[in-house]
Amino acid sequence: MKKMTLEICCGTACYVLGANRLLNIENEMPIELRGKAEIKASPCLGLCYKKELKGAPYVKLNGMIIEQATAEKIFERMKELLES
Ligand code: FES
Repeated sequence: MKKMTLEICCGTACYVLGANRLLNIENEMPIELRGKAEIKASPCLGLCYKKELKGAPYVKLNGMIIEQATAEKIFERMKELLES
């Protein structure tokens, strides 16, 4: 299977609201998810200005937006993608 792409926004808003803690996410991943994603630190994804979204930090997994991203949310979405 092709690797997933995980873009972690490191713009100011996302960084101070938790993206800094997501940068080492590979180390926290459950064993079944390790090595399954190419992890990239991204400049502002342009989502922090959108009032209809729930809030930073933002992450994109294969282009899908995860709002108020936490490691647990990201792992859930990765598992869903692996199973689909
Ligand atoms: S700082 Fe993350 S979307 Fe703008």
